[in-house]
Amino acid sequence: MNNTYVHGYDSRESERLNDQASTLTELLHHDTHYPPGSRVLEAGCGVGAQTLTLASRSPQAQFTSIDISHASVAIARDRVAQAGHLNVEFQQADIFSMPFKAASFDHVFLCFVLEHLAEPVEALTTLRKLLRPGGTLTVIEGDHGLTAFHPDNAAARDAIQCQVELQSRAGGNALIGRQLQPLMVAAGLTSVQVSPRTVYVDGSRPEWAEGFTRNTFTAMIQGVREPALAAGLMQAQRFDEGVQALLRTAESDGVFCYTFFKAVGAA
Ligand SMILES: C[S@@+](CC[C@H](N)C(=O)[O-])C[C@H]1O[C@@H](n2cnc3c(N)ncnc32)[C@H](O)[C@@H]1O
Repeated sequence: MNNTYVHGYDSRESERLNDQASTLTELLHHDTHYPPGSRVLEAGCGVGAQTLTLASRSPQAQFTSIDISHASVAIARDRVAQAGHLNVEFQQADIFSMPFKAASFDHVFLCFVLEHLAEPVEALTTLRKLLRPGGTLTVIEGDHGLTAFHPDNAAARDAIQCQVELQSRAGGNALIGRQLQPLMVAAGLTSVQVSPRTVYVDGSRPEWAEGFTRNTFTAMIQGVREPALAAGLMQAQRFDEGVQALLRTAESDGVFCYTFFKAVGAA
């Protein structure tokens, strides 16, 4: 996984995940609350962008946040300590061979992780088994197929498709958001509820144009420029044209829409 993670592990990617987390906090997390004393596993915490939100919104829950990347866990640990949260323990671990006993947790949370896994149902099944009966599993994922913008631009759509294709070649699925309900049911979760969460950005929301359209979505597409060119998926000039067209949608007369999905199921 470390070798194939399509977004990479550099500091620019960390900044992108942080911008994404802060812009989207209310949209994705207004209903993420864990009761005092509950044991919550965050799987694939990365550099802690969601961990900070989880820990601050549920200060009396006990979080265990894991990631396969040692380096990311170290950054997340520092950031959470600097923010003064005392309710998170970190550990390096692989979702597919977790060092926890069955029924160790009341809740599991994962965000933007399944999209990178070749076997999402196996991952969800492994995580479900770590829940006590009746515990919940929450998953948040995006879906690049649900991107719409004005002015529309074919090169921009092709550049987005490069990201989808590269992620697929790395074993992931950038269109996974729409599949969360069937994936969770296949993993044995019950009472699965999915809510689509649409980011809508127009000229009246300049902070979203900056935080989401520019610094999150377009930055992510820019991040695959070199691998996309190396794989011969697009010519450099056309890729750059696509990126410029995405940036153009963040201007005061542009519009950008993207849909995330949040699913909650019970063990
Ligand atoms: C896009 S990042 C998301 C990080 C964080 N959840 C967030 O929303 O900012 C995906 C993370 O999943 C981690 N990951 C991928 N495969 C994993 C596995 N098998 N076990 C644990 N973590 C994994 C990666 O190392 C990476 O940090």
